[in-house]
Amino acid sequence: MKKMTKIALSVATVGLIVAGCATSGGGNITSESLSLRKAPVHTENVIKLQKVTYIKAAPGQSKMFNRSFDNAPPLIPHSVEGFVPITKKNNACLGCHMPEVAKSMHATPIPKSHFINFRPTEVIAKDGKLIKKGKIVARANGTNDVFATPTHGKLYQGRFNCTQCHVAQSNAKPLVKNNFKPDYASEKEMKRSNLANTFDQGVDTSK
Ligand code: HEC
Ligand code: HEC
Repeated sequence: MKKMTKIALSVATVGLIVAGCATSGGGNITSESLSLRKAPVHTENVIKLQKVTYIKAAPGQSKMFNRSFDNAPPLIPHSVEGFVPITKKNNACLGCHMPEVAKSMHATPIPKSHFINFRPTEVIAKDGKLIKKGKIVARANGTNDVFATPTHGKLYQGRFNCTQCHVAQSNAKPLVKNNFKPDYASEKEMKRSNLANTFDQGVDTSK
């Protein structure tokens, strides 16, 4: 009985959506016009993938991009062929970007922020309250405290998957024009990050 009500409800919802589409603005809204890839949303069979080429320049031969905004993760300017997929045990990026080797490889060293655990190291539920453990660097009301526990030269493992945040570049054309223009705090932030020194900016520590 419960199931039937659910089905009846979803049929009614679909009916409403269809009715809504048919009447809004008087014109016909097709699923193609709703989709950024200009294809029907209910089938993958007719999709023509854009032919894109990833940057071929090897590390050491590429040209770095300006940061998208202050402390944005820098885009990967070189080819990552052979470096992905990254696994916990096999991470080629570290071979050139770990701070102890980066200089000799002419690569930007992994910054201090990647050697800090910004989460509490432990969360315990006690008497209806959550007790968070870890090194607090800025106190804000107990609920918004900023944690920063150094990992002492070992990459914080929440960061092992570099390409989750740093992306290899291709010649794909943007589907939507982007008018965003960064307003850097200073010229320096255009090329380097300083998050480890600024992450508690704006945290109200007066409470
Ligand atoms: C063989 C050494 C090497 C490997 C391996 C390597 N890189 Fe690089 N990387 C470099 C060098 C050198 C540069 C500087 C640009 C250049 O000279 O091509 C660089 C630049 C970068 C930059 C831009 C930094 C900035 O300041 O703008 C990012 C991001 C980056 N690499 C991420 C990665 C990631 C992620 C991986 C793994 C998928 C990786 N790199 C693997 C050597 C390497
Ligand atoms: C969760 C997202 C995330 C992951 C995962 C991550 N990074 Fe970053 N990375 C950032 C952000 C955001 C910045 C810029 C702010 C900062 O310094 O933390 C950055 C900055 C950098 C920089 C520039 C440092 C500078 O001084 O300008 C390098 C190099 C870098 N990351 C390399 C790596 C490598 C190599 C890995 C994998 C081991 C990695 N990152 C994993 C988000 C990430």
